[in-house]
Amino acid sequence: MCGIVTAIATRNIVPVLLEGLRKLEYRGYDSAGLAVLHNGEMVRLRSAGRVAELASLADNRQLQANIGIAHTRWATHGVPSERNAHPHVSAGLAVVHNGIIENFETIKADLQAKGYVFESDTDTEAIAHLLHHKLQSGVDLFEAVRLTTNELLGAYAIGVVTEADPFRAIVARRGSPLLLGVGEDGMYAASDTAALLQVTRKVVYLEDGDLAELRLDGYKVVLADGTPVEREVHLSSLSADAVELGKYRHYMQKEIFEQPQALANTLEMIAGGGSISAQIFGVSATESLAATRRVLVLACGTSYHSALVARYWIESIAKIPCTVEIASEYRYRESVPDPETLVVVISQSGETADTLAALKHAKSLGMSKTLAICNVPESAIVREAALRFITRAGPEIGVASTKAFTTQLAALALLTLALAKQHGRLSAEDETRYLTALRHLPVAVAKVLELEPQIEQWAQKFSGKQHALFLGRGRHWPIAMEGALKLKEISYIHAESYAAGELKHGPLALVDKEMPVIAIAPADELLEKLKSNLQEVRARGGELYVFADAGSEIPESEGVHILHMPEHYGMLSPVLHVIPLQLLSYHAALVKGTDVDKPRNLAKSVTVE
Ligand code: AGP
Repeated sequence: MCGIVTAIATRNIVPVLLEGLRKLEYRGYDSAGLAVLHNGEMVRLRSAGRVAELASLADNRQLQANIGIAHTRWATHGVPSERNAHPHVSAGLAVVHNGIIENFETIKADLQAKGYVFESDTDTEAIAHLLHHKLQSGVDLFEAVRLTTNELLGAYAIGVVTEADPFRAIVARRGSPLLLGVGEDGMYAASDTAALLQVTRKVVYLEDGDLAELRLDGYKVVLADGTPVEREVHLSSLSADAVELGKYRHYMQKEIFEQPQALANTLEMIAGGGSISAQIFGVSATESLAATRRVLVLACGTSYHSALVARYWIESIAKIPCTVEIASEYRYRESVPDPETLVVVISQSGETADTLAALKHAKSLGMSKTLAICNVPESAIVREAALRFITRAGPEIGVASTKAFTTQLAALALLTLALAKQHGRLSAEDETRYLTALRHLPVAVAKVLELEPQIEQWAQKFSGKQHALFLGRGRHWPIAMEGALKLKEISYIHAESYAAGELKHGPLALVDKEMPVIAIAPADELLEKLKSNLQEVRARGGELYVFADAGSEIPESEGVHILHMPEHYGMLSPVLHVIPLQLLSYHAALVKGTDVDKPRNLAKSVTVE
């Protein structure tokens, strides 16, 4: 979490810093700040609010500069406030930081003993003072940053500028993302490419431990021990449109409606072909998948829900035992490692600290067969895994994950088929049938999106409620979980999900006329069982909102509202059934007037434990 931007250029870089922060606001948005050299003097502006407030502060000051750093924050150490907002300073130098310094208390105590006075509760201020202390010993700025970062434990991406050395900015990273932008008129750095598209497409991804000096006429990169290193310059293919709102009111809305295209892009490799190849997961995948005896999927939040759907698919189609675990639990649990297990990690961002740590933990236990399903090709999680599948959802900016989820499901469906094929459990006929369904998935999703007007009406009724229950069975139970997560995340309505059969074992006690119960009712083999569970709700006065496939034959009646979905879509039905739940949350949040794309207390990439 947190986003940083650094710039040194012949143009006025203040608008570049601010625009960069706007693009990074999804990473954290509880305060923002910048520090620039304005007529040779360090000027620091900070705001406890959003980037827009910082921009008006900069406007009022008519700030102009050719070098500076900027930050948008998601609080870890210290409450969100102006005092804790970055940059943090120490006598003429300023630092912005993304990450967590685990040994900051020791560093702080040591610096306090040397007379340094701390103004904030952040770990970052310790970096600023430590850097100042190093500079006092006579080394130059670049070396001082190198010596400082070598003492830091934990994760960081930092940007540094000083009054005394106005012709270079220094950046460094370990654990947190950071890339350089090579501009026509100078050098830039930021937490992600979207922040730099305004000035350049030429980007250089820094590796863990790298330190870079940015000057007007170029840059250099060194390793943590000071050895110079060359890092390739990439031409980013990210389109500026992909990160613009366009005709939409919110990113979440845009991303919900981008799902047909995101799925088509993700499934492009099977668009023409009549068969599935394990090679889509990497060159060594054929061998790896064939040798897989078990599958362990690790993920967090929405990505975890996609894994739960995949468990149903993998066990029923590929007939391979599959376990799914929350990454933050797995990493600290004593588990029994098994080298024949394929460890699959799923992450939209590829940065989630718990998922990355779980992957490293699995590897440390000797499980070398690893696969990352991720939306960001250069991310830490992708680089850590032996095999990879990149979902092509495009940048997901809204904190609530939508198109990342459905494209993860598409990737997991492909994995299921590839595993089944490698193990001789996929007949040619089934292969054709599943691939045809996958190819038509974008069109099927587009049809479900047409239900929006009805869902909008339901959302009106919902927005006045304090609580909601979501029910599903089988492979749609994780979809109920995802619906509940979406609703609480952006509308702040308390929502819980249950496997419908579990209701009578406790949660039914919650049901009365004030409790809306949302049910996912695909016309599958569990429909009759689900109908009985819905009767249990009605008998207690609970109001039912049912998403029913054509053919489900659940009649509308007093207290039973039905939204008719298209024909049942078989194995891939969960992909269709999540769409109305995304729309329901979105419209409930709109009615409630919450900040849809930036819900309170959350951030898009959770790079802390
Ligand atoms: C979903 O709406 C959430 N914002 C969150 O649960 C998210 O899916 C989770 O933090 C995992 O993120 P990742 O996919 O980037 O690893």
